[in-house]
Amino acid sequence: MHTYLVVGSGGREHAIAWKLAQEPGARVVVAPGNPGIAADLGDESCVAVQASDLAGLASLARELNADLTVVGPEAPLCAGIVDVFRAQGLPIFGPTQACAQLEASKHFAKVTMERAGIPTAAYRTFVDVERAIEYARGAEHPLVIKADGLAGGKGVTISADVAQSVATLRSYMSHGQFGQASQQVVIEEFLTGPELSFMVVCDGTRAVPLATSRDHKRLQTGDLGPNTGGMGAIVPSPDTTPDVEAFVMAQVIEPILHVMAEDGTPYVGFLYAGLMLTPSGPKVLEFNVRLGDPETQALLFGMREPLGPALISAAAGHAVSLGEFEPACCVVLASAGYPDAPQTGKRIAGIGMNTPDTHVFHAGTQHREEEWQTAGGRVLAVVGRGGSPQDARKLAYQACHAIAFDGMQMRTDIGLS
Ligand code: AMP
Ligand code: GLY
Repeated sequence: MHTYLVVGSGGREHAIAWKLAQEPGARVVVAPGNPGIAADLGDESCVAVQASDLAGLASLARELNADLTVVGPEAPLCAGIVDVFRAQGLPIFGPTQACAQLEASKHFAKVTMERAGIPTAAYRTFVDVERAIEYARGAEHPLVIKADGLAGGKGVTISADVAQSVATLRSYMSHGQFGQASQQVVIEEFLTGPELSFMVVCDGTRAVPLATSRDHKRLQTGDLGPNTGGMGAIVPSPDTTPDVEAFVMAQVIEPILHVMAEDGTPYVGFLYAGLMLTPSGPKVLEFNVRLGDPETQALLFGMREPLGPALISAAAGHAVSLGEFEPACCVVLASAGYPDAPQTGKRIAGIGMNTPDTHVFHAGTQHREEEWQTAGGRVLAVVGRGGSPQDARKLAYQACHAIAFDGMQMRTDIGLS
């Protein structure tokens, strides 16, 4: 009987907690969790300790005598939660602060990829805005401009022309659009091709892949509208082949683990490589040191074997096996006004209709006066699983059609190429 502490409060953490709770006899506590998790796993499953309170989380893990703490979002990882837990002898699955630099600094990720010989877009790093502008004036467009640090998924601009590049660089570097995070920028070559989310479980020296997936980042059907945190995902990715997967393992994942271990900072935790399948082969766009959101909601709903024991093994440096994954689809239901200014407080009808092959994970909800209401931009992540991606899609959308709230935004083409 295992006890797990999950850190975080979004749809991804709801899926992680739900998956861990499928293990017979498992006790799962989430800090701080959300009302949907409490409804799913019981009120006592959520404890009001914030993800930024590293000392409070360590005390909670000790109090629970947790067999493992699993960290959802990047912020506590980048703040060093794993280092804090390890110093106190508390078992935790995640990368140390040194390893989390792969997500916390795009420059660090680029330099590390270069050293490891990993295929990625050509780049230059700048701390001086005038130099950056001078470079951009002479560069081919479109050009990709990235804030070096954490910017909540909003720090990347695909710039169409020199005027936009100059404006973006001034905003990032001179006007502190993302504060400290955009003082330094990485300017990158623009790549084209389908995107692939490739996630692995790492034990310090070895990595085992989860199923592949594809995120849909644009707000509207047909890949239109602004970029979002992700409007849905399909598992497996429709764009990969066993050859591509073998290439990514051999040319991306293994080299990065090798370099991190060589530097004395072996990587333990989930590692997410965001790739573009370009005409000249797969290239890495970014690393995340956590699971993707909303990919995870589909991925874990389709995972057949229990997750917890594998993570306990990996955290202890032992070999891991993850078993099979069923095709699965996740459709995000978002508020009117998302991503810029989401309208919240709308009554949600039709929630709570989970079936063996569909489930509703909560990202931004509240339970008030006996009813569910919207409380964030991305409100729900509705998942379906089936024998094929088409079946999984159909089930996910059937479940979505039972749900309604004022101004609800939903893409109708998740999982379609
Ligand atoms: P990131 O936050 O680094 O994942 O970037 C956000 C999105 O920007 C990615 O999902 C891609 O769609 C796009 N992007 C990032 N880097 C590049 C690049 N070098 N070329 C083209 N698109 C990119
Ligand atoms: N789905 C993209 C991410 O989690 O960063």
